[in-house]
Amino acid sequence: MQFKIAVLPGDGIGPEIIDAGVEVLNAIGKKYGHTFKYEYGLIGGVAIGKEGTALSDATIAMCKRSDAVFFGAVGDPKYDNPLAKIRPEDGILKIRKALGLFANLRPVKVFSMLENASSLKPEIVSGVDFIVIRELTGGLYFGKPKKRWETSTGRKGVDTMAYSEKEIERVLRVGFELARTRRKKLTSVDKANVLETSRLWRTIAHEMAPHYPDVQFDDMLVDSAAMRIIQQPKYFDVMVMENTFGDILTDEASMLAGSLGMLPSASLAAVPKAGTRIFGLYEPIHGSAPKHAGLNEANPIATIMSASMMMRYSLGLVKEADALDAAIEKTLKANLRTYDIMGPGSKKLGTKEMGKAIAERV
Ligand code: IPM
Ligand code: MG
Repeated sequence: MQFKIAVLPGDGIGPEIIDAGVEVLNAIGKKYGHTFKYEYGLIGGVAIGKEGTALSDATIAMCKRSDAVFFGAVGDPKYDNPLAKIRPEDGILKIRKALGLFANLRPVKVFSMLENASSLKPEIVSGVDFIVIRELTGGLYFGKPKKRWETSTGRKGVDTMAYSEKEIERVLRVGFELARTRRKKLTSVDKANVLETSRLWRTIAHEMAPHYPDVQFDDMLVDSAAMRIIQQPKYFDVMVMENTFGDILTDEASMLAGSLGMLPSASLAAVPKAGTRIFGLYEPIHGSAPKHAGLNEANPIATIMSASMMMRYSLGLVKEADALDAAIEKTLKANLRTYDIMGPGSKKLGTKEMGKAIAERV
């Protein structure tokens, strides 16, 4: 089969990790007789530099006419000035919104070979396998008003956390449905002891739960969830939460897997269902890591795992995705590692070499 993939490498290590991902996809294509047609576009700091905007309408249109979007990272210290009018991050926020990608799936799976790479004790992280669903187009990231201004008594700033019933219901539905395909346990994370949006969230969750009697449902306050993730991560199967909560808790959770470079993600515009293809954007959860850019040392595994999720959810290539997951596991079993996940006796590979090593094992 032939597939059209929009590729947005972005800034920093983005182009390097995306190259590694494309190499692996091509290896899959060769082995299973598929053609991936790539169309490249600009996003983030590079787009600001060349097009004056972090994401152009032409790039959005290009994404809309593809089967899926493969995204690297955005962010450039050049734009760190808090007074900057436009910033690279605007690009990713805008594309999530423009494509209606409200459900961001972030699997947290600890490979047995990497138990020692975690900053936590092996007995805590061993066997961890949960997935965070982060609401991606609402909440504190997008609520209005959102601004800064001068007052007679000093400067002020405001961000707004706002949610409609519809926004909450659809992302919770992704949680319940996904739980059904796994260990049938859903934890809804909120701050209902303080926030009105969380009380609405919790009310809707409790209204939906009886419709999923096969799913064991509970809710947990976000501060408590932050603790539980490092105290007893095996407690979790599927977690669902507000945008900002999900941003923070998934960086935390990546430490279970040994590195920020090990967590992939899928951003979807609909509830995933076995046997159907849905449009999505696929990206590692980490950022552009400017310090590591251009050095051929960044870990491309989160990006390569994102390519696997792309095949699974958007391209209908389930056996190919399974084959890629197995190839990643084989590579780690061979003790081939990037700098961030080194263990006893590991051989250190660069970004490109790690891509090749996985492609060879496909
Ligand atoms: C992420 C990133 C982004 C976010 C940044 C780059 C805007 O941290 O995908 O988690 O906050 O959503
Ligand atoms: Mg983040």
